[in-house]
Amino acid sequence: MQAFDKPLRLESQFIHGGYSPAQGDRADARAIAQSTAFAYDTAEELESVFAGRDAGFVYSRIANPTVAALEARFKIIEDGLGAIAVSSGMAAISSLALALAGGGDEIVAGNSLFGGTCSLFKHTLSRYGIGVRFVDAAKPAAFRDAIGEATRLVFVESIGNPKLDVPDIAAIAAVAHARGLPLVVDSTVTTPLLVQPKKLGADIIIHSASKFINGHGNAIGGVIVDAGSFDWGGDRFPLLAPFRARAGQFALLAALRNRICRDFGCCLAPFNAFLLSMGLESLGVRMERHCANAAAVAAFLAAHAKVGETRYPGLISHPEHDLAKRQFGGRYGAMVTLRLGGKARCFSFINRLRLAKNMAHLGDARTMVVHPGSTICRELDHGERAAMGVSDDLVRLSIGIEDPADILEDLEQALAAL
Ligand SMILES: Cc1ncc(COP(=O)(O)O)c(C=O)c1O
Repeated sequence: MQAFDKPLRLESQFIHGGYSPAQGDRADARAIAQSTAFAYDTAEELESVFAGRDAGFVYSRIANPTVAALEARFKIIEDGLGAIAVSSGMAAISSLALALAGGGDEIVAGNSLFGGTCSLFKHTLSRYGIGVRFVDAAKPAAFRDAIGEATRLVFVESIGNPKLDVPDIAAIAAVAHARGLPLVVDSTVTTPLLVQPKKLGADIIIHSASKFINGHGNAIGGVIVDAGSFDWGGDRFPLLAPFRARAGQFALLAALRNRICRDFGCCLAPFNAFLLSMGLESLGVRMERHCANAAAVAAFLAAHAKVGETRYPGLISHPEHDLAKRQFGGRYGAMVTLRLGGKARCFSFINRLRLAKNMAHLGDARTMVVHPGSTICRELDHGERAAMGVSDDLVRLSIGIEDPADILEDLEQALAAL
């Protein structure tokens, strides 16, 4: 078999990126290195690997061949300097925040974030002296106004969850860069198929791989990609300084692997890395189908007499529809929200659904439904809920890849009974 003579296109990289059977024992599916540690013939060899003089694996909390294969694929897919895969999307976000910020520092973040990220920034990191300023993600100027001397990173989600607002990534990147700060984009909801945030100026890309990447609801994982566009020099990031001296532009990746992730122990299990790699292979076709099904559902709900408001970036009525169209290449993802005029009506709608599963999850092959106000956003106070568009009568759908007629019939029978 010949080596590729030019780089493969994105969806081919989902399947082939970063791995050739010739690298291992010729197994075409990457073998699972279900090994805690790695043995060396001599003390000198192990010392060299420990010291970073020779490449090699030492202990699976720090690095593992199956996890490394997934990382290599993400490095290619996001055109990054490198990637680190960890135990969950939350582990990716918390590790990154702890690598860049310390006591007295601040994060400036869009205000419509996944509830877990919101809780991390507001309740958990604050216990360690890291503050957060939330701003309207749809207003790039709001980021400029909130950035101060203590800011260490700017954070947005590519589509806010569950508000489904769309930040202008290029404009926010320009604001962050003008103040010497990196822009971090959580691209979980869009996946690399809809947007490669580096092309719009993002410096770090986060994925909860538990969602569309996995796609089959059987493994949790997260990925951090350093796009390679940000210069980690200077004294703004003290944790990175010693790593900058040793690893140059790889300072952030080295600090994550050899300090934060190693010390906090948020490693991805090899078996989960295997499942995530398998899921990634079919991401392209699944996402196409997710987007087509969600567009059909959004059109159906928007025209339904019993639905108050339907939100979907693909609808012309969506405030950032034009931006979404430009930024995501005419695809708008799988998330749709609807308002039903009261919590009781939402519950009775959810309880009548047969196909859509009532789960606090998104991005799976199956269609899922959740009432955000009583579940994923329940910890938010009144003001935060308002900012995030979480009203009591809001229902969030994550549209799956079933036959669209079955999804629509399920929604119709549940709405008819209201
Ligand atoms: C946008 C987004 N980011 C991060 C996370 C956290 O990911 P995980 O559940 O893998 O920790 C989620 C979870 O729903 C999410 O929706």
